[in-house]
Amino acid sequence: MNRLIQITDLHFGENPSVVIKSINPVESFNAILDEIESSDFRDAPILLSGDLSGCNNAGSYQMLNKMLLNRRKEIIWLPGNHDNLYEMNAHLTHYPRLSSLQLNDWSVITLNSSKAKSPVGFIDHQELLKLDRELSKVRSQFAIVAMHHCPASIGSDWLDGHRIENRNELFGVLSKYDNVVCILNGHVHQKYEGIWRGIPVYASPSSCFQFKCKSKEFAISNEPPGYRWLHLFDDGTLETGIKYLA
Ligand SMILES: [Fe+2]
Repeated sequence: MNRLIQITDLHFGENPSVVIKSINPVESFNAILDEIESSDFRDAPILLSGDLSGCNNAGSYQMLNKMLLNRRKEIIWLPGNHDNLYEMNAHLTHYPRLSSLQLNDWSVITLNSSKAKSPVGFIDHQELLKLDRELSKVRSQFAIVAMHHCPASIGSDWLDGHRIENRNELFGVLSKYDNVVCILNGHVHQKYEGIWRGIPVYASPSSCFQFKCKSKEFAISNEPPGYRWLHLFDDGTLETGIKYLA
């Protein structure tokens, strides 16, 4: 069995003392890493599924790079709508962008679902080609496809407006393969588990502030920071859940 952790929507500010929605995102991320350290997931690789910075600032990524390095973590990341891919590549110096991560018979494939100056998801042609290429390489394995935005409706009007615009094209690629076990995403700052066109979709709460579930318009909830854990079994089944900070 393999273990995987998803932490999403870190929303780091430009320095460690920035507070957002009454939470210090660096402190809450550190608290999550402490919690993981004391669990069976201490050696699990971590997927960071976008909005690593809340202000696409070089300082955010420099801080994150240093924290991850101190903790000796295995990381795979993808950008969110609040990130700047150029700054990420420049300042996550010890964590170059990876298209996929192999975990024995499992493969985690990462996509960029963000477009400039918009909170709405979109997967451009190059990324769709990359997805096709990556999936064709791992036909005999179990695949997880990770992206920042959600393809599914989560029952929250304003967040559903941010769904991946060209999700039909995304499905067009995914439906060519029968080994896609699930989609993992962030952006919605809440727990979500559903089925989209036959594919299980799991979203994780943010490692700092959460959005109110089922809300028609933008609203913050007072749920604590959280993350998602996954057990990936050798037969292709998966077990997953959310852990909130107490
Ligand atoms: Fe976010």
